[in-house]
Amino acid sequence: MAIRLTINGEKQVFHGDPRTSLLEVLRDTFRLTGAKDVCGEGFCGTCNVHINGEALPACLRPIGMLEGAEVTTIEGLSPMGTFNAVQAALEKHDVVQCGMCFPGLVMTMSKFFETNSNPSRAEIKSAMTGNLCRCTGYELIVDALASIAHERGLVQ
Ligand code: FES
Ligand code: FES
Repeated sequence: MAIRLTINGEKQVFHGDPRTSLLEVLRDTFRLTGAKDVCGEGFCGTCNVHINGEALPACLRPIGMLEGAEVTTIEGLSPMGTFNAVQAALEKHDVVQCGMCFPGLVMTMSKFFETNSNPSRAEIKSAMTGNLCRCTGYELIVDALASIAHERGLVQ
């Protein structure tokens, strides 16, 4: 079966079993390995990508349901060689430990900041609940993300 979709702005066609997860298609067919395969069951958020404008776990989406979809992965989030505000804050605050959870976290929080440019710490924590970090540096991650509004001059 052929499934047509757009990935990082490029038209792509997947030929194969429509039950294959988007995560497997991204990693194995298109060699986009930024989305990580950890739980494979929708619990950890390491595989989150943007599907039609929403941050969602790619491991739970059969490719057969994505005909005509627009998918953005961490590789296509920012122009080559640049960081968006979320990536820049995490890098500046040096909060990445093993790094396994970060692609999914960046996808979730980049979408979140599109709709809430000046969130409270509680709102940031709530938005992060679907993204588990086994290295558990949560407070430092929240510090980094909370700094975004300050650096944009939204908080005095
Ligand atoms: S690998 Fe998809 S949510 Fe954990
Ligand atoms: S930095 Fe290691 S899992 Fe989050």
